[in-house]
Amino acid sequence: MQSSGSAVGVGQAPEAIRSRERQLSPFEWYAEMRQKTPVCYDEQRETWDVFRYEDVNHVLKNHDAFTANRTLEDNESSNGGSDEMPMLQTMITTDPPEHNRLRGFIDEQFQPGAIREYQPQVEKVTAELLDDLENKQQFDFVDEFAVPVPVIVIAELLGIPADRREQFKEWSDALVARPEDDTEEEIQRVQRGQQQAQQEMGRYFAKLLEERRGGDGDDLVTLAANAEDLSRGEKVGFCILLLLAGNITTTNLLTNTIWSFEEEGIINDVRTGAIDHEQAIEEVLRYRSPIQSLKRIATENVELNGQQIQTGDVLTLWLGAVNRDPEIFDDPEKFRPERGPNRHIAFGTGVHFCLGAHLARMEADVAIEQLLERFDRLDADLSDLQPLSSLYGLESLPCEVSVNAH
Ligand code: HEM
Repeated sequence: MQSSGSAVGVGQAPEAIRSRERQLSPFEWYAEMRQKTPVCYDEQRETWDVFRYEDVNHVLKNHDAFTANRTLEDNESSNGGSDEMPMLQTMITTDPPEHNRLRGFIDEQFQPGAIREYQPQVEKVTAELLDDLENKQQFDFVDEFAVPVPVIVIAELLGIPADRREQFKEWSDALVARPEDDTEEEIQRVQRGQQQAQQEMGRYFAKLLEERRGGDGDDLVTLAANAEDLSRGEKVGFCILLLLAGNITTTNLLTNTIWSFEEEGIINDVRTGAIDHEQAIEEVLRYRSPIQSLKRIATENVELNGQQIQTGDVLTLWLGAVNRDPEIFDDPEKFRPERGPNRHIAFGTGVHFCLGAHLARMEADVAIEQLLERFDRLDADLSDLQPLSSLYGLESLPCEVSVNAH
């Protein structure tokens, strides 16, 4: 969701937040921009940057004037034609009324009632991963827990055989990769990886959809295969979108939760229930939002907070800045696990409000609760944090644990 023709993908961070320190903590920059230049144009990246809650909320709710359809972006100026990968038509880049057709057939499956039914599956997946970790005193929280939880859960919901999961992780990593630098060579390398992963996944899902058409399974691939008013390409796009939109985001929510809990020294209070873990995870969503920015394109000449936006202009909407806007949140730079109400928009807002929000919350609640129940001591090592190069999270998070004997 950070740039590119898909939910996530190629796109450089602003100059001001490219260093390791600023990637880990872009929040001072956000505060400065929010105050001094809440809507401003970056010539280098050719985008408007928007930092305030009110403005971002306005743009996201006003899909007539600000489209999510990235094909309208003017690519003429970038790297000999395009820095986009070929785009599959999915709900995330489609405006109403078409959007409704692409989302409507599956919306029900992601509502709280349906999500509650998946909970035992998520509990089982988490318990099995923890069984493996129990024999270790040290492990990398990202690689061995935060990555596999959402990958296995979504693979199960889609009805993907267990032996394809490793392949799935490789595909989803390639799809959200971001260039390490802005050389032509590096950008093309990332694009080639994305295209290859997309093609391979496309072929894989096209075959699976064909096999499941007319079946009566309740997995998401069968539901998509039987959806009446979706084309073959749209069904494939839907399956790929779920992996793209749901994996690294949820991985980062889990990682950012342990990162924040350790930093705040509240792991034990969450374990004992002195701090409510669901509310604390909401605060992580606000404080360390896995997706820091979204894109939209103006479809008409409009004014936004005193700036003249022209048709075709790209806007980068900084959710990470919005979620710390002092106009909305008391003491916004402070992590307050008991915060309520918590009006963060880490899952977006408007018609594209995250389809998987209830699922992500349930996964995080189950995973964090079980993790802390299983280990009566968990220390995360924050001494050498490396930011992820795609969304907002960490490359690794070394943990030391001891097992609860009861
Ligand atoms: C859309 C965040 C997990 C599926 C979005 C959007 C955000 C977001 C900000 C809005 C994009 C836009 O307006 O352009 C997150 C975060 C997650 C998460 C922070 C985890 C903590 C998931 C999961 C799934 C999922 C687990 C599915 C399995 C989707 C889909 C959309 C979406 C399909 C597009 C909805 C539409 O266009 O109508 N997500 N997401 N997300 N998300 Fe999530």
